Amino acid sequence: MAKGDWWRHGVIYQIYPRSFADSNGDGVGDLAGITARLDHLNDGTPASLGVDAIWLSPFYPSPMADFGYDVADYTGVDPIFGTLDDFDRLVAEAHARGIRVVVDLVPNHTSDRHPWFLESRSSRDNPKRDWYVWADSRPDGSPPNNWVSAFPRAGRAWTFDEATGQWYLHSFTPEQPDLNWWNPEVREAMDQVMRFWLDRGVDGFRVDVAHKMARDPELLDNPLVELDEEDLETTQEARDRRLAKLKSIPRRDEDWPEVHEILRRFRSTLDGYDDRMAVGEVYLLDLERLARYYGSGQDEFHLAHNFVFLTQPWKAEAFRSVVDEFNTLLPADAWPAWMLGDHDISRVASRYDEGGDGQARARVAAIMLLTLRGTPFVYMGDEIGQADGEIPPDRVVDVDGRDPERSPMQWDGSPGAGFSTGDPWLPVGSQAGTVNVAAQRDDPASMLSLFRRLIWYRKGSAALRGGDYRSLTDTPGGCYAYLRTAGDERLLVALNFTGQPLEYRVEGPARGRLELATDPARSPGDPVDLHPLRLAPDEGLVVRLEG
Ligand code: NOJ
Repeated sequence: MAKGDWWRHGVIYQIYPRSFADSNGDGVGDLAGITARLDHLNDGTPASLGVDAIWLSPFYPSPMADFGYDVADYTGVDPIFGTLDDFDRLVAEAHARGIRVVVDLVPNHTSDRHPWFLESRSSRDNPKRDWYVWADSRPDGSPPNNWVSAFPRAGRAWTFDEATGQWYLHSFTPEQPDLNWWNPEVREAMDQVMRFWLDRGVDGFRVDVAHKMARDPELLDNPLVELDEEDLETTQEARDRRLAKLKSIPRRDEDWPEVHEILRRFRSTLDGYDDRMAVGEVYLLDLERLARYYGSGQDEFHLAHNFVFLTQPWKAEAFRSVVDEFNTLLPADAWPAWMLGDHDISRVASRYDEGGDGQARARVAAIMLLTLRGTPFVYMGDEIGQADGEIPPDRVVDVDGRDPERSPMQWDGSPGAGFSTGDPWLPVGSQAGTVNVAAQRDDPASMLSLFRRLIWYRKGSAALRGGDYRSLTDTPGGCYAYLRTAGDERLLVALNFTGQPLEYRVEGPARGRLELATDPARSPGDPVDLHPLRLAPDEGLVVRLEG
């Protein structure tokens, strides 16, 4: 594989292993299933999606209280997903196709069954006691402070341990005790974990809740936020409201300055190897704070996921202002990352459905995601416009309402959607009969064809891969348009976020040539009038400017 900044120029595809492909019919996806489906991702030809890397959500041994984000052994594979040999085979097969492999690193917390925690909780003077965050009750017997779990259903962020008479901190479920990153032994232990996977050939890490690793060592209260009953529901809207309210206060349970020291250490471990990358899950809804996770641009994360972008409503102006502002905040040399979906948020095709046509908007979203300046992350299934699955109450398994976006990948129209021959762990989505890879593969009008065209076009375009970006500000309301340029390659991207036709007189030459369009009936190479440019409802275009 060619060396270099692959993570700047490539497209990264997220796989949630439980839901991607089940090779043994037990209803849960596994590593061998992923290997068997690699040709869909990139077989070296434009008949495949053409992604450059995959990011795998956790496949480590885990009691699955948070479906793998509760790790009981950082250097193994849970039997439900296969074996280390299966992992090695997956990496070898991926690399043979030019696909890099990024794995999830979960350094903020372990499972409560991890041997480190079992030792830590065994007595107050156990040598690993201080590997986790233990604290005494307040004089009135209440928990050490007012911190709450990120999952409202888990309640407070503290659980009392009867045996040793102290509370331990968990930013998520009680089965996920937080590690104490002030302890140098914890830092050393996680270094070893990173080296284990780097030595095995992984190309990088996605670092789970990176912003949580350092918190106020004095464990002082967070300022109070008023959440009402409705904010505690498990719907997407409630989650957004909660986050917006929490964002409005300075918090003591995350984003503490020492986190940057930890990240510099991660970076120096990575820099000891060739060509590796770390992308942070930095769930801070504040662009300035987010930008700090890039450090100088050279010494912390290579990339950081931008949840401000991800959580915008379907409005041209909203996306434009996030992108423009973030570009000005990033240090020189730093490179943005953009994503519109992952395993924690309602899928693109469902999320933007309100008040408009979700499928049409998902096409516009695909053009935006793959033409912005920065590294695009595509969540599995978004390439076919898969919608959230419908989960009947008796099939709910997640603590925080995230089952719909984790319903099985829809490969074909068979009862198990080609995901499994057994009983899938989550129900297959109701649209699987029509919205699936097999049905879209040979249909030039499909979402899959649009994604393929975009990704392969991007590979051949210096302007899209690494060129400059400038947003156009004289656009009509509801239109987000920008120029991507490199040398004499000049591309105009124009996106109509409304359900109405729009006209926009583009400054410069009166005509361009069509390169890509949401509308499959439009032909690449056709001339496009720019005085004015006419955009149909929910239309996105990439136009080459000539002369
Ligand atoms: C973020 C992960 O994406 C999410 O799925 C998980 O529940 C939390 N971190 C805790 O690890």
